[in-house]
Amino acid sequence: MDNLVMPREQLGVCAEGNLHSVYLMLNANDGVESQLRPCVANVAQYIYELADQYADSAFNGFVAIGANYWDSLYPRQRPSQLKPFPAMHADNRDAPAHEYDLFVHLRCDRYDILHLVANEVCQMFEDLVELVDEERGFQFMDTRDLTGFVDGTENPKGRHRQDVALVGDEDEAFRAGSYLHVQKFAHNLSKWNRLPQKKQEDIIGRTKIDNIEYASEDKPLTSHIKRVNLKDADGSSIEILRQSMPYGSMKEQGLMFISACRNSENFEKMLSSMIHGDGEGNHDHLMHFTQALTGSAFFVPSLDFMEHEAD
Ligand code: HEM
Repeated sequence: MDNLVMPREQLGVCAEGNLHSVYLMLNANDGVESQLRPCVANVAQYIYELADQYADSAFNGFVAIGANYWDSLYPRQRPSQLKPFPAMHADNRDAPAHEYDLFVHLRCDRYDILHLVANEVCQMFEDLVELVDEERGFQFMDTRDLTGFVDGTENPKGRHRQDVALVGDEDEAFRAGSYLHVQKFAHNLSKWNRLPQKKQEDIIGRTKIDNIEYASEDKPLTSHIKRVNLKDADGSSIEILRQSMPYGSMKEQGLMFISACRNSENFEKMLSSMIHGDGEGNHDHLMHFTQALTGSAFFVPSLDFMEHEAD
């Protein structure tokens, strides 16, 4: 790999939002690594090329490698901060770990294209992996979470998305890769919808219809945005890039929460602030209305890394 040239990132990591998504959670069969290495590289390259072919429908995606599977697939080197999902528990707030070997993330503004590509990807992986779980996400109203609140407003914008989400010179071999955390949250919507709107707004820290941020002095310490809006020792904001989308059916529905970041610690600090709180008894009250069913940690390598390691 040429050190002077930035490796090619997988395009779905920093892509703007879409109307539809498909999430494939896969586990590798035993002892298939030598075949799987070229296969994951081909799948990632295929997704990359389709982003051009289906540019009109804003197709994008990526292939991510599970933290617990990384050393089996790529035993030669490991991203410096890659570790299993930081499972947490406090009182009745739970963030369990549930790891997968591979995660394929596909998004597009046309559902038919997504279905076609998902089928193709599964065929490319045939005999090497088992499809353990699949979810389909959708854009709800004007990019709202199923709680009715606009989600993604304070996400990094423009080229700052790359600064936040992609590894830079700090870990040379893994430049343009990304640490990914995925949690499938199932909402208790009947409980949530019984809350008066003002109470819901106090829990998020923004108004519901107009999506206006509360003034700093009005934000409850237990509000979601108070708990996740954190600063480092220098007073700079700790950031992640969220790629979450609502998912589900009448049986189970919620948010497929997805965080991409150039390090793994920003997500962990935010999650800890939500679950454990600020040390003075203030945890995130949004957690009373939703339950994390899964929690998985992955790394999304650059296309060049995958290609280089393929044989
Ligand atoms: C902001 C919803 C989980 C991190 C927000 C906002 C909403 C929201 C409505 C305000 C609008 C915006 O800026 O996007 C949810 C729901 C969740 C969830 C429904 C799960 C059920 C998480 C988790 C994390 C997180 C697990 C990180 C560990 C953030 C961050 C912001 C945010 C960093 C921006 C805060 C700011 O700077 O104002 N979320 N969120 N969220 N959320 Fe979440």
